[in-house]
Amino acid sequence: MDYKELIEKLDQARMPHHVGIIMDGNGRWAKAHNRPRLFGHRAGAKATRTAVELAVEIKLEVLTLYAFSTENWSRPKKEVDGLLKLVKEKLYDEMPVLHNNNVSVHRIGSNMNLSDEYLNEIDSSMSTTHNNSGLRLNIAFNYGGRLEVIDGIKKLYAKAELNPELIQELTPENFGDYLYTAGLPDPDFIIRTSGESRMSNFLLWQSAYSEILISPLYWPDFDKVAFLSALLDYQNRKRRFGGVKAK
Ligand code: IPE
Ligand code: IPE
Ligand code: MG
Repeated sequence: MDYKELIEKLDQARMPHHVGIIMDGNGRWAKAHNRPRLFGHRAGAKATRTAVELAVEIKLEVLTLYAFSTENWSRPKKEVDGLLKLVKEKLYDEMPVLHNNNVSVHRIGSNMNLSDEYLNEIDSSMSTTHNNSGLRLNIAFNYGGRLEVIDGIKKLYAKAELNPELIQELTPENFGDYLYTAGLPDPDFIIRTSGESRMSNFLLWQSAYSEILISPLYWPDFDKVAFLSALLDYQNRKRRFGGVKAK
């Protein structure tokens, strides 16, 4: 099916509120094209733009894109430096278009290992969009799910110094208030490209009941048709949340 047929099939009443994407496979895509890994990351950035465009077109509420994990620091310095530069440049270049499309762009992740100068640069380009009411776009950058939980526990303890009852009042429902995604719905649907069947430390707390789709495509090849097909797959699923309906 082509783009037009797929978009017509999409059921607005069964849209996921929040989609997360583990954008994997840039390196293997580059290798398959006999090019350096950074060439793959640049091609991946184009696919990212396409995915955001579609999210705007279909009026998705929240899109979280995994761009750089806390474990990705263990890659060769040249690749890490290239990735940091690419993220900064793309955020800067794309911000006017994102802003015009009413997208609100946020960074979720840790500040660890990043310079104040770098953080100021990326955060200031995003902050102009924070009053926008359209798509909420989270860039999971220097993000790790385990670190997020630990950061959350630290936030809770800092608050509990003044309000000790917060510890007793903690529940699986309200712990999310201490996470980077506070106030947002949990991801209904998580897509991972390039065929790997693992979470790689992405939204560990929030994905408790997420539907998951593994696409065999490398991220640079993940186009609007692939994204729409994934969403249609989601819409055909039955979510049960551990329950059984009374007959
Ligand atoms: C995903 O592509 C991008 C990042 C992790 C930053 P990879 O760089 O992991 O590509 P593969 O998995 O080596 O193909
Ligand atoms: C997950 O991909 C991280 C991002 C897409 C940013 P990785 O390529 O880092 O994950 P592993 O190493 O295959 O688990
Ligand atoms: Mg990878």
